[in-house]
Amino acid sequence: MELLRLADQTDDDLDRLYAVPSSPWLRVNMISTVDGAATGPDGRSGGINNVADKRVFDTLRRLCDCVVVGAGTAREEGYQDASKPLVLVSRRAEVPPGLRDAPSGSVLMATCAAAERLDETRELLGADHVLVQGGHRVDLAGLRHALTERGFASMLAEGGPHLLRDLLAEGVVDELDATVVPRLLAGEHPRITDGPPVDVALRLTLLLEDHGTLLARWLT
Ligand SMILES: NC(=O)c1ccc[n+]([C@@H]2O[C@H](COP(=O)([O-])OP(=O)(O)OC[C@H]3O[C@@H](n4cnc5c(N)ncnc54)[C@H](OP(=O)(O)O)[C@@H]3O)[C@@H](O)[C@H]2O)c1
Repeated sequence: MELLRLADQTDDDLDRLYAVPSSPWLRVNMISTVDGAATGPDGRSGGINNVADKRVFDTLRRLCDCVVVGAGTAREEGYQDASKPLVLVSRRAEVPPGLRDAPSGSVLMATCAAAERLDETRELLGADHVLVQGGHRVDLAGLRHALTERGFASMLAEGGPHLLRDLLAEGVVDELDATVVPRLLAGEHPRITDGPPVDVALRLTLLLEDHGTLLARWLT
């Protein structure tokens, strides 16, 4: 395990420290406060992130082939199209408003055959950009395989808590990058996982520190 100061690392160092060890690889990047809040007072993760977290966030975006995100998070956080292909996971196949006009191919939808908005979303994104994985629920292991087949071997998931929990339950997470910011919020906030119980053991491989912010790289 490496214990390092973030301020001592160049961007090239971060690329090396976060290089994926094998392919395909799926990692999830999440943030919380010391008392476990995954959202700030504004109800968004943007309310708790900081400069240190942004450096690792940018590193992980730089290193990935695609970003996978739950439709709930894309809606709440107002996701726009990004530098990397964005894969939305939605049981309903609903594309959030901010992504409806994204350039063709920059947004993909991962959904299931029973999705209410399937036809509409095929029309909007193009049938080739809609990945139907499963009948009544999204088969996340199947999604990982389908994304790999498309050449997206390095996959970065950005939550949210329900999607992280489901990815863990299906055993498809290789790595969790978890930032803890030095704040306490109390009140009602989600944790970084939400949903029925899972029990996943983690192994710490890297811990970066920056003014009390801890940025950990855990392997499953
Ligand atoms: N702290 C962090 O690192 C972090 C990261 C991300 C988000 N957040 C926060 O978390 C909150 C949202 O939480 P959330 O748990 O609702 O987020 P989420 O998991 O992104 O959203 C849940 C929605 O995403 C879709 N979804 C998630 N898992 C799915 C699965 N296995 N199969 C099919 N669809 C799936 C469904 O969309 P449909 O309803 O369209 O079917 C579901 O209603 C926001 O406040 C956001 O700011 C925090």
